[in-house]
Amino acid sequence: MTDVTSEQTAGAGPRHVAIIMDGNGRWAQSRGRPRLFGHHAGAKRVREIVEACPDLGVKYLTIFAFSTENWKRTQVEVAGLMGLFRRYIAKEARALKDEGVRVRFIGDRVRLDDKLVALMDELELLTSDNERVHLTIALNYGGRDEVSRATKRLAQDVAAGRLKPEDVDEETLPKYLDTCVLPDPDLVVRTSGEARISNFLLWQSAYAEYEFIDTLWPDFSSEIFAGLVHNYGRRERRFGGVLA
Ligand code: FPP
Repeated sequence: MTDVTSEQTAGAGPRHVAIIMDGNGRWAQSRGRPRLFGHHAGAKRVREIVEACPDLGVKYLTIFAFSTENWKRTQVEVAGLMGLFRRYIAKEARALKDEGVRVRFIGDRVRLDDKLVALMDELELLTSDNERVHLTIALNYGGRDEVSRATKRLAQDVAAGRLKPEDVDEETLPKYLDTCVLPDPDLVVRTSGEARISNFLLWQSAYAEYEFIDTLWPDFSSEIFAGLVHNYGRRERRFGGVLA
């Protein structure tokens, strides 16, 4: 009897990997350096991981760059991270375009500064014809915030008569999420030894596999990434059903 509701079978790699890039601060502090030094080192790892995706069969990569809770950090760290995101986009745009990477951003842009939002819009447009790898960067993103914003828009459609309450089901809400054009993640990875999902892709990860690894994000490498992808291929995903 087969009762599995996905094309994913044992032996196949993950099509969509989502990563919580944690441990930059500890990595820097263990070297006696400021936390921002760790974020810069972390930013350098992103390119290597994106470049590894095609050979590993990973078509979608989603990375958690800044959460709705990260505003609670010191003003110096928040400003440093925002500056890092601006410089990263400006510096990497051409290479991302040339390497066939389609970049999207998820999260609430309202609180981000205009210059950063303009760079994000430009990068999305510049790479919009690419389809070798789909890189999604979560920036001022929180899963609960995303579901709240989605629900608000859904309620507006109901109030305006564009949607009937009785037609709202599990297929409806995801159409209002920031991730509406993406498949759900198959594998969610968190670095740095913390076993929490910290408000990341709450709806989308309902059936994801999880890997919590001790490596701090600036030490993450394409070899470690490949190992996780191969481990995933050995797992059986049942989606609440049973395998034949
Ligand atoms: C968590 O480490 C990391 C962040 C809040 C920022 C993630 C950002 C990057 C990896 C840099 C750049 C990304 C892009 C897309 C350019 P932490 O500071 O919470 O580390 P800790 O737990 O050791 O304090």
